Amino acid sequence: MADKKTWPKMQEMKDNGEKIAMITAYDYSSAGMAEKAGIDIILVGDSLGNVVQGGDNTLPVTVDEMIYHAKAVKRGAPNTCIIVDMPFGSYEISIEEGVRNAVRIIKETGCDGVKLEGGIERAELIRAITNASVPVMAHIGMTPQKIAQMGGFKVQGKSIEDAQKLIDAAKALEAAGAVQVLMECVPTPLATKITESLEVPTIGIGAGNGTTGQVLVWYDMAGMYDKFCPKFVKKYAEAGKIITDAMAEYVAEVKGGQFPDEAHSFALKNADEILPRLY
Ligand code: KIV
Repeated sequence: MADKKTWPKMQEMKDNGEKIAMITAYDYSSAGMAEKAGIDIILVGDSLGNVVQGGDNTLPVTVDEMIYHAKAVKRGAPNTCIIVDMPFGSYEISIEEGVRNAVRIIKETGCDGVKLEGGIERAELIRAITNASVPVMAHIGMTPQKIAQMGGFKVQGKSIEDAQKLIDAAKALEAAGAVQVLMECVPTPLATKITESLEVPTIGIGAGNGTTGQVLVWYDMAGMYDKFCPKFVKKYAEAGKIITDAMAEYVAEVKGGQFPDEAHSFALKNADEILPRLY
């Protein structure tokens, strides 16, 4: 079994030019698969609002739901670094409430840190959560919790002003204590420049190959979610089709009477003796 990757170990990985592989998981079984596959970080993402709950966005997800899923993930991957998304509404109202929710998530799940979305305006909050001994991953660029303000899922940092804002945010959030900075939908050259200008590792999703690590939503990369598929997703499997085909075969066998066969049923040794005596 590989050693659990701690935040300092992952800092060493960046320093040594090694890549970090991160993936989402939302339950015991998928977390176990991720651990077996050698994933460095599991993210219990609020993307569960889309791929597990079937919502159009992540906004309705609650702290209680994140904790429920994170506990299951922790049971499935006890030797993997696990980070939990702080959902919309759990840190915007006040610093105090953000710290309280971050501490609660760690206390109740036993996971290794929290991730939260936003730019330079989150620096004070990240400092406060870090001071409460909770490691924080900052999430900049396209931040799905700001979907309404951003007017949809759009690549960020395309003008000089916006690109500079992203660089300033990344530096400020690192200075505030963020252990890693995640960038979503950021052009490759800009994400690479940000990675080079930070000490801490960066994780990219739709941010090209110049970041320290990569993250994908596991339902997307395994072909399990077909509502929409962003350009940056590479499908490594068509698991959704494999499972649907298996279910269709099951339906056919149940209706045709082929399932269950003897191999999947329990015999009764003395049936000839027992059954006639039953009424
Ligand atoms: O919620 C999530 O899965 C995420 C990733 C898309 C980075 O934040």
